[in-house]
This record gives sequence, C-alpha cells and structure tokens, in this order.
Amino acid sequence: MMPFVNLKTIGIREIAALEARWDEPGNAPLLEDAYGFQAFRIPDFLQLLYYAVTAEPAPRTFLDAGAGIGTKVILAREVFGLAAAGIDVVEEYLAEALRLGAPVDEADAMTYEAYGQWDVVYHYGPYREPERQVEFERRLQSEMAPGAVLVAAMPSAKPAAWESLFRAPWQGVWRKPAVA
Ligand SMILES: C[S@@+](CC[C@H](N)C(=O)[O-])C[C@H]1O[C@@H](n2cnc3c(N)ncnc32)[C@H](O)[C@@H]1O
Repeated sequence: MMPFVNLKTIGIREIAALEARWDEPGNAPLLEDAYGFQAFRIPDFLQLLYYAVTAEPAPRTFLDAGAGIGTKVILAREVFGLAAAGIDVVEEYLAEALRLGAPVDEADAMTYEAYGQWDVVYHYGPYREPERQVEFERRLQSEMAPGAVLVAAMPSAKPAAWESLFRAPWQGVWRKPAVA
C-alpha cells in the first residue's frame, strides 16, 4: 500500500487519485495531434527528478512542457524545492492545475519561447506523430540554456552529445553542455 505522505499543500494519495481520475477518457476534448493527459508514473518521475536535482550545479527552477493538471509541477516544488511551473493547451487541465495551486500558463509547447529560462525542463510526450515529437524535442533541446537539465519520459530524440545523468530504457536525464 502506498504510504500516506503529506506534501505542503496536498497528500500524495490525493495526487495519485487525481491523476487516475483525469487519465480517464472524456475529461477533456481530444487533441488532433497530441495525447491528452496521461500521467507519467509518479515513482519513475521522482527517480528522474532525484538525478536532476542532485547534479551540480544544483537546479532551482523547473518547467513541465505539457503539464496537464499540474501534479508534476507540485511534486517538483514540494518534494524537491524547485520553483516550478508548467504549460499546456487544454483549458480543462489548466483550470484544474490552477485549482490545485500549480502555476501554469496556456502556451503551445512547439512555439513556447522561454525554454531558455528554466534550469530543468521535463516532458512526457506530447505529440502522437513521431516526426512531430522529434521536431518538438529538437527545438526544445536547441532552446534550452547551456548547462540546463532535460528530464524526458519516453524521449524520441535523445540528446546523445549531452552529459547523461541517468538512463533507463524509456527515460533519461541529460545536461546540456555549458558551451554549445
Ligand atoms: C502525456 S501528458 C503528460 C502530463 C504530465 N506532464 C505528466 O507527466 O504526468 C501530455 C500533456 O501535454 C499536453 N499537450 C498536448 N499538446 C500540447 C501542446 N501543443 N503544447 C502544450 N501542451 C500540450 C496535453 O494536454 C497533456 O496534458
């Protein structure tokens, strides 16, 4: 049984229940080219973030590109102490994230222009079409700041030339070279 853990603003059991509820179809309109909210496994997320935050220099800020209901933003903030925020395009998810106290903005991950301001950028998807997913990841990688850390669940374009901080079969944590 999952232990009962209270974060500062929410219990871990509540996060798990919310993710399960919003993961069900019918909670938001289907997107044409992308997946809707599908929660990345919390234990895997915590593992990836552990490797991101224990790297040197220590990151302070975190962005979830495709944040859904904002639960990973809350975990990044309240488990790891990061100044965390997210972006998404689905009104229903954004409203739920804000209700839960996760700072999120409406922005399209493909055209978002501020990737360079974050110490850690995390994504799980979001695109269905493999070529579009690769295009998104390459753009993200090229716009992240030198030295920033990429946390990717199921990446399609792994940044082979970056320092690998952690690897698992479908996940990874990489640091962008300080000098590109
Ligand atoms: C697979 S879910 C990941 C949710 C959360 N980040 C997690 O890891 O549990 C992908 C999210 O990306 C969002 N999304 C889809 N297309 C997007 C786009 N063009 N820009 C920003 N977010 C998008 C979806 O609405 C959904 O919430």
